Amino acid sequence: MRMGVSKATIFLGFLYLSLFQSVLCRFVVEKNSLRVVSPDDIKGTYDSAIGNFGIPQYGGSLPGTVVYPKENRKGCRNFDDFGTSFKSKSGAMPTFVLVDRGDCFFALKVWNAQNAGAAAVLVADDVDERLITMDSPEADGSSAKYIENITIPSALIEKSFAEKLKKAVSSGEMVNVNLDWRESVPHPDDRVEYELWTSSNDECGFKCDMLMKYVKDFKGAAQILEKGGYTQFTPHYITWYCPQAFTVSKQCKSQCINHGRYCAPDPEQDFSSGYDGKDVVIENLRQLCVFKVANETKKPWVWWDYVTDFQIRCPMKEKKYNKECADGVIKSLGLDSRKIEKCMGDPNADEDNPVLKEEQDAQASLFIFL
Ligand SMILES: *[C@@H]1O[C@H](CO)[C@@H](O)[C@H](O)[C@H]1NC(C)=O
Ligand SMILES: *[C@@H]1O[C@H](CO)[C@@H](O)[C@H](O)[C@H]1NC(C)=O
Repeated sequence: MRMGVSKATIFLGFLYLSLFQSVLCRFVVEKNSLRVVSPDDIKGTYDSAIGNFGIPQYGGSLPGTVVYPKENRKGCRNFDDFGTSFKSKSGAMPTFVLVDRGDCFFALKVWNAQNAGAAAVLVADDVDERLITMDSPEADGSSAKYIENITIPSALIEKSFAEKLKKAVSSGEMVNVNLDWRESVPHPDDRVEYELWTSSNDECGFKCDMLMKYVKDFKGAAQILEKGGYTQFTPHYITWYCPQAFTVSKQCKSQCINHGRYCAPDPEQDFSSGYDGKDVVIENLRQLCVFKVANETKKPWVWWDYVTDFQIRCPMKEKKYNKECADGVIKSLGLDSRKIEKCMGDPNADEDNPVLKEEQDAQASLFIFL
């Protein structure tokens, strides 16, 4: 990520909000992705954070007319219940539904609007700050079902801009906008940068299963896009640190490496049996190093092969979630294992690991749309 460029952040899979077990995907895009074409008095380009649940649509652009529903303004309920439809008549511009932020998942709003025929959704922020606060509701199996079926684009817009749109709509004006990904990509070569927050933990029940499925399903497209130069992705792994007073406790010892600096929760929530959080941190670190080494050789997409092969060949269930099995995968992919070991450093050393340190720093900027 470069300085001086404003970024918008999108999360895929924000349903699995428990940070350690979630996959979060951020697309780094520039400002000015939403243009108001008419009316004249609010014409111009506005900041927005384009959200897209599923595979992002690169290099596209979509014109539409903004509608602000009279009821169900937060979009948390089915629009059918209010007899509202956003289907545009043939020949008419597609409908962009403006909904207010709050009360339910961002994705549920988009899903409800999509079902009512919307072509895109604009979510009006309800606070004036730029930053969005983090929240962590319980993951919920029912929402996982619809998220994969969301096909329409969505964007979070600033409160002040939303108010201008509402005013124009309520005064009966035709508000035409254009959501443009071509303008939003940060590079003139149309390349989208995105970040994927993930974990190698494969034994946390539903969340881990969803995460693995997501990675598996997205792999093909991700590799094609990466090889084609359309994207530049960076995988990330979340760790936390043990408070200094506890670094010698049993809990920290089993969950952390580098003397309490980098920890992950115990996969089975049982400190005495099976794998420890420490094992997860080490494998996460290995995967980060696989990415670094693969990226240095200009083949970042090999990371996807590694993580999916590792999932298949080295599951915790079969007691193969270990270095030996990982080394087999590394070898089969022709990656330089010495370079990877060097990158991983010594997990027992009482010092910072530069790779994980960087991850913890990046983590500080994580926030979630809700
Ligand atoms: C999502 O799409 C699939 C395939 O079209 C369908 O079988 C499934 O019922 C859909 N899920 C929801 C929640 O609509
Ligand atoms: C991956 O490589 C590209 C250049 O090939 C570089 O710009 C990027 O920063 C690298 N990413 C990481 C995380 O090292």
